[in-house]
Amino acid sequence: MSAQTAASREYARRRRHLMELMGPGGIAVLPAAPARRRSRDTNYEYRQDSDFFYLTGFAEPESVAVLAPERPEGEFILFCRDRDPQRELWDGIRAGPAGAVTDHAADDAFPIDDIDDILPGLLERSERVYYAMGASDAFDGRLMEWMHRLQSNRQRGGAPDELVSLDHLLHEMRLFKSRAEIRIMQRSAKLAVAAHRRAMTVCRPGMHEYELEAEFRHEFARHGAQCSYTPIVAAGANACILHYTENRAPLMDGDLVLIDAGCEYRMYASDVTRTFPVNGRYSEPQRELYDIVHAAHAAAVDKVRPGNHWNDPHEAAVREITRGLKELGMLEGRLEDLLRKEACKPYFMHRTGHWLGIDVHDVGDYKVAQQWRLLEPGMVMTVEPGIYVSADAGKAAARWRGIGIRLEDDVHLSRDGPRILSRDLPSSAEEIEAFMGRVH
Ligand code: GLY
Ligand code: MN
Ligand code: MN
Repeated sequence: MSAQTAASREYARRRRHLMELMGPGGIAVLPAAPARRRSRDTNYEYRQDSDFFYLTGFAEPESVAVLAPERPEGEFILFCRDRDPQRELWDGIRAGPAGAVTDHAADDAFPIDDIDDILPGLLERSERVYYAMGASDAFDGRLMEWMHRLQSNRQRGGAPDELVSLDHLLHEMRLFKSRAEIRIMQRSAKLAVAAHRRAMTVCRPGMHEYELEAEFRHEFARHGAQCSYTPIVAAGANACILHYTENRAPLMDGDLVLIDAGCEYRMYASDVTRTFPVNGRYSEPQRELYDIVHAAHAAAVDKVRPGNHWNDPHEAAVREITRGLKELGMLEGRLEDLLRKEACKPYFMHRTGHWLGIDVHDVGDYKVAQQWRLLEPGMVMTVEPGIYVSADAGKAAARWRGIGIRLEDDVHLSRDGPRILSRDLPSSAEEIEAFMGRVH
């Protein structure tokens, strides 16, 4: 079986699963992502909408996918751009409706320009329209217009009277990764690991943050991948800005550099952070904080097990960080009191992770019926505790001010417990120093 066939079977399985969840009488409508203008006649690189991609694997803009369970003429309908030799000469090959059927498994396909004439006829036979409202004002408006028109002509035919959020069904599906998805995510994490290793290898005092960023962009690009978000390369106190992306500062001898960078490989994100010394050796205060973050990371990863709650890894990380800061004397009081008062929050102000998948902050609910949900096999999440002591953190002793540390890995929740997809990257202070020592 070719890879293409295996992939198209997986898309078909997902469509079937979603249609089973929707049931007869339902119809799902998913527009492709719009092309986005960068300046004048230059666009940003096109990226397909994550939900649309998940169900179709179809990468072209100006498309609309429709799933109509039990439609006799076929359940998967794709609207896409017509073939156009002149446009294709400039912009690239299009599948066209015929290609949508032969190469993308559509049961039926039509030119996108005919959608006004055809889609209302499909909606007419349905009771419920599954749609993600709010992603595109333009398409929201068109869909509402079609539905209103059908409703005001009710005597002539049927009209759906319910608009249902597609997100609940589809995002619950996306939360559980198939074996094929895990294989791609493993590869995505491996590319991130290789890039982080390169950054640790080339890093020298006097270089600039953007030079390390370049290592990531090159490593990803040469494997057909790209950054899944703007890399954060934050030297010294810049690491205390959680989403720092300027990446223009010099790397000073004696400072740490925090790099939060991952790639998007075949549409799946990795998201990995390491904080290492520019000169290869942690100073004593840096090491004190680093070891706490590392212990918090280990404690949190250990909680990534089926049957635990979503919040268990975070609680474990908070406990370790609070305990560590208390031992250093940065926090004073009884541990349980400090935990109750969330005393570490000025130094660890974000959560310990998020779902990971086609989106970096992937879809899927964290709570079910207002309770933290149970962790189940097939989920993938990040574990990313940190300590950030800003340069003006008046309460902290001077030795720790201006130090920001985060340690982030991508963790697959397997039946047997946590599997760190980014495990081949040095993680403890000893491992990082040994790695940097060996390559310098
Ligand atoms: N890179 C963004 C995050 O770690 O969530
Ligand atoms: Mn990150
Ligand atoms: Mn993250």
